[in-house]
Amino acid sequence: MSAAASVLAPTATPLLLRDGSAVTARPFGADERDVVQRVFDAMSAESRRLRFLTAVPRLTERSLRLLTDVDHIRHGAWAAETVDGPVAVGRWIRLSAEPHVAEVALSVADAYQGRGLGRGLLSVLGVAAEQVGISGFAWTMDVENRRALRLAAANGGSRRASLGVVEARTGLPPADGIDAEAVRRLLRRVGPQAVGLAA
Ligand SMILES: CC(C)(COP(=O)(O)OP(=O)(O)OC[C@H]1O[C@@H](n2cnc3c(N)ncnc32)[C@H](O)[C@@H]1OP(=O)(O)O)[C@@H](O)C(=O)NCCC(=O)NCCS
Repeated sequence: MSAAASVLAPTATPLLLRDGSAVTARPFGADERDVVQRVFDAMSAESRRLRFLTAVPRLTERSLRLLTDVDHIRHGAWAAETVDGPVAVGRWIRLSAEPHVAEVALSVADAYQGRGLGRGLLSVLGVAAEQVGISGFAWTMDVENRRALRLAAANGGSRRASLGVVEARTGLPPADGIDAEAVRRLLRRVGPQAVGLAA
């Protein structure tokens, strides 16, 4: 790609929501604290509990550091944004004991929930994770989290419930409704070393 083309290349890929809202997804860069904090701020106490499986009134400095320590090889994260700013974050974190599996987690701002954003962002995560040799996702969900349970169930695999928590193992989601090639291209821009691992 020429220098001019590189400058002009899009930095995000569209996600089509069920109601037609315009949202784009892009991989995390070096310091995305603002994105993580703003999406957290746009989630109710109940949404935060569903995400972290415990009450989380605020993000500590340590949490922010962990949630932004992204290299797209061990830990991948993507932001979903509108013209008004970030509305969701999706991430996967490779399991050290099973490097072909990654724990997946999504945070969608309350105002954007139930509109297909979680589904779209999950597809983006699947394409990105596959690029670095991941073949399945591990999920830890509240037993009442119907949306997350539905997202996981669509990808087969197994699940078991205990003490109000469902642990599931699934394959990667299909790249339905997203531009998989754009996702791979965006990933190459932020983590060229990641492409080598996928070869
Ligand atoms: C769980 C979460 C990520 C889902 O994302 P979302 O954008 O709200 O969900 P989507 O609109 O993509 O819907 C996901 C699925 O749930 C279904 N769904 C939507 N609203 C629903 C509802 N009220 N009840 C049951 N199912 C519902 C959708 O139909 C979709 O299934 P389908 O694609 O087979 O039709 C999001 O709601 C969220 O961030 N919740 C709080 C934090 C959390 O729970 N994180 C998940 C931890 S793994």
